[in-house]
Amino acid sequence: MKISVIYYSMTGSVFKLAQVIADGAREVGAQVRLRRVPDLLPPEVIESNEHIKQGLAAQAEVPVATLEDLVWADGIAFGSPTRYGNITAQLKNFLDQTGPLWGEGKLAGKAAGFFTGAATMHGGHESTILTMSTFAYHHGMIIVPTGYLVPAIHSTTTGGSPYGPSELGNKSELSEDERSVALFLGRRLAEVAGKLAQ
Ligand SMILES: Cc1cc2nc3c(=O)[nH]c(=O)nc-3n(C[C@H](O)[C@H](O)[C@H](O)COP(=O)(O)O)c2cc1C
Repeated sequence: MKISVIYYSMTGSVFKLAQVIADGAREVGAQVRLRRVPDLLPPEVIESNEHIKQGLAAQAEVPVATLEDLVWADGIAFGSPTRYGNITAQLKNFLDQTGPLWGEGKLAGKAAGFFTGAATMHGGHESTILTMSTFAYHHGMIIVPTGYLVPAIHSTTTGGSPYGPSELGNKSELSEDERSVALFLGRRLAEVAGKLAQ
């Protein structure tokens, strides 16, 4: 199985989830490409905020996503922090460049999962995943949710829902529940992608 994890993260929380999802996919034998999409923030905004500067610096070694990373993969996990209950311009900008792939049906039939981060409990974890996923419907991808298939989803008081992994509150470390939901999505996405690619 070939899995791409494509994400944007400004201060590092969604990056943490992306790494755990990648680990989950590797656990079941997938080859994984972890890729960040290009930033759109003006340099002066980055320079003026220590939290953003550190968050972006921590990801400096992660290769930048290209459309080829989508075509290569059998399954793709897409991640973005929430912005007013919706996805970031950075991830949207990348997805908006997939028109030629859509025209040729290049992503049709591939597995797609989604993950996010939000500062507050009811600030848009689920709406962000749902709005991010409309992209996959238009491409004819097969959406892979987490469902209630991992125990943490029944009891988490941090991130993670039946829609997909999420991080709550910009913590320095993911909670155990957030980690287990993210690992589960990585494994499940790879397993489903492998079956679809047969
Ligand atoms: C412009 C803007 C809008 C945001 N909107 C929301 C929101 O609607 N709900 C929420 O809980 N958090 C909101 N946040 C907080 C971020 O979603 C949160 O800090 C993010 O998940 C951190 O992810 P990152 O560390 O990967 O960048 C917003 C942050 C910014 C900068």
